[in-house]
Amino acid sequence: LRQQGLEQIKAAANLEELNQIRIKYLGKKGPINQALRQMKTVTAEQRPQIGALANTVRDDLQTAITQTKDQLNQKQLAVQLAQETIDVTLPGRPRALGTAHVITQVMDDIEHLFISLGYQVIPGPEVEEDHYNFEMMNLPKDHPARDMQDTFYITNEILLRTQTSPMQARVMEQYDFSQGPLKMISPGKVYRRDTDDATHSHQFNQIEGLVIDQHITMADLKGTLELVARHVFGQERQIRLRPSYFPFTEPSVEVDVSCFACGGQGCRICKYTGWIEVLGAGMVHPNVLVNCGIDPQVYGGFAFGLGPDRFAMLKYGINDIRELYANDVRFLEQFQGE
Ligand code: PHE
Repeated sequence: LRQQGLEQIKAAANLEELNQIRIKYLGKKGPINQALRQMKTVTAEQRPQIGALANTVRDDLQTAITQTKDQLNQKQLAVQLAQETIDVTLPGRPRALGTAHVITQVMDDIEHLFISLGYQVIPGPEVEEDHYNFEMMNLPKDHPARDMQDTFYITNEILLRTQTSPMQARVMEQYDFSQGPLKMISPGKVYRRDTDDATHSHQFNQIEGLVIDQHITMADLKGTLELVARHVFGQERQIRLRPSYFPFTEPSVEVDVSCFACGGQGCRICKYTGWIEVLGAGMVHPNVLVNCGIDPQVYGGFAFGLGPDRFAMLKYGINDIRELYANDVRFLEQFQGE
């Protein structure tokens, strides 16, 4: 019995099998316990012999079981460890990282410049009232200059803003000058009823700028714009102001930067003029100040509207504005940012 038991224990393939064997030999109904229970039927002389024998067999089997159990446990652990091994030397799987759109990069860059100059960044609604988009900006209903910006109307009074300039009015009419000078930029999307082509998009971006205080002059405007141009296009850039017309500024200017492709020598990019137009600006018109409840005898300032799309195109030599909105990754991937 002992020999048979030991052999079976050794052959046990797993803990479950081993447990069955244990019950078979050492269980209550197993042969050893049965033998011990029948002790009363044997003679007094035989009793110690049989008892001792039964005990050794039981102890031997128990020891063998414990040993085999340890071995099986070890084996199982080894298998588990092998399965769960992590090869820490494997190269990691690269994650596909997205990047900010090139326009976002240019806008962020310009916004950070103005934040560093103490300007607030105040975004505004793209669905705007005629009142703010035009009337407050010194463009009454029948004003011919409304034709400069072909407009998507939603109702008679509600439209998609054609410019970020309505944010000048929205901010000025709320502003409390006891807080100090007003300095803000307002970035965002604008819409015009243009047919899309290489230089026109029915939706594009603007960054409006506005500074109102006492004693602001055109020199402040020029200095600020020169800073922007040099920040975006390089320290060696020159700027020049050309007289222009906007209903909400007087005087109004268009601002050119010296061509960075040819350094002012004249090339295709600057149409052989040495200069590239980048934005519109001017001194805030007294009518606009009055519309916003500000006394033009005391306060005045400058405003500008720049197009980040155009900035991005010039900076990176992109010659079709539609590239910026087609969302072709092969195009976008070229602008990984810093
Ligand atoms: N709003 C003007 C445009 O979209 C740009 C501009 C802004 C001009 C502020 C002067 C002052 O063309």
